[in-house]
Amino acid sequence: MKKDTRILSGIQPTGKLHLGNYLGALKNWVALQDEFPQVCYYCIVDLHAVTAPYEPKELKQRVFDTALDFLAAGLDPDKAAIFIQSQVTEHSELMWLLNTITPIGSLERMTQYKDKKKRHADHINAGLLNYPILMAADILLYRATMVPVGEDQVQHLELTREIARKFNYTFGDTFPEPEPRLTRGARIMSLTAPENKMSKSDMERSYITLDEEPESIKSKLKKAVTDAGTSGDLGPGGQNLLTILEVIDPEAAKNFENDAKAGQIRYADLKSYLADKLTEYFGPFRERRQELASKPDAVWELLLDGTQQARRIASATLRDAKKKMGFI
Ligand code: ADP
Ligand code: TRP
Repeated sequence: MKKDTRILSGIQPTGKLHLGNYLGALKNWVALQDEFPQVCYYCIVDLHAVTAPYEPKELKQRVFDTALDFLAAGLDPDKAAIFIQSQVTEHSELMWLLNTITPIGSLERMTQYKDKKKRHADHINAGLLNYPILMAADILLYRATMVPVGEDQVQHLELTREIARKFNYTFGDTFPEPEPRLTRGARIMSLTAPENKMSKSDMERSYITLDEEPESIKSKLKKAVTDAGTSGDLGPGGQNLLTILEVIDPEAAKNFENDAKAGQIRYADLKSYLADKLTEYFGPFRERRQELASKPDAVWELLLDGTQQARRIASATLRDAKKKMGFI
């Protein structure tokens, strides 16, 4: 099968994006749009976002906020299609088709599902279980070969590959098997409980948003959990701060790491250095985001344009899949 490079990824519009989303995914999206212009599809996955309790009146604003984060982080609509999942209805339709070839056992094995089932014991809907099939549809509709995500999504991607193989085997070659593309920041941890990943659904003190005010960055980092710093081992909290620093200032990170190895690291210094660096690094982001927020019409227009580009590819693939399955 022909395997032209195609890139697709998605983020849920469930709140402002944080350092984990940026270092694990979005930063990579920007690099890939420059390396592979015109073949990147970046999606705001609002259909995924409604699998957890949410406020309908706020959904559109959240989609808009996510679009602002995408654009301020450097996604360029001239190089990549930026669009809203629910507006390309082919996603839901392909999902139904893929539903019929996905074993329930594979879905029940997903770590994220098991985790959500534990955390929202009173709100387990079929959407939570079927969530990875919709993600597979997102990817396969564009015949994506590469999917830039954080480490937590690798298992879902494995399932996407399994679904693609099953479809190809049953109905004939249709979908390439997509590969994950991970970064150094593929797993950024929570500031308050560094054994868990940083997440939007956690409490505010545990993450830093990309437009966080400098004072707030400072105070969140100050309170970040780290060990005493004398054992020569950084521990998960200290290591996490170093991983963040490594991406934006590798040389300084190396120095702090050497101090740690010698048992001489001063966490207060690392935290205040990192706070300054983050403030500097995301300064232009904050400015661009504010500017874009003042032009909502232009932002919606651009999403509409992205949706039209996405729909062209999605409808051709869906048609092919339906043909192979005998519908047309
Ligand atoms: P969240 O878990 O914060 O709601 P999403 O599920 O919307 O975030 O994830 C969007 C993207 O960001 C995915 O590619 C995911 O792998 C990545 N991501 C999320 N949290 C982290 C993290 N803590 N470290 C690295 N990447 C992350
Ligand atoms: N499930 C992903 C997450 O929670 C979001 C997502 C939906 C996605 N569809 C996708 C990621 C397609 C990559 C490709 O982060």
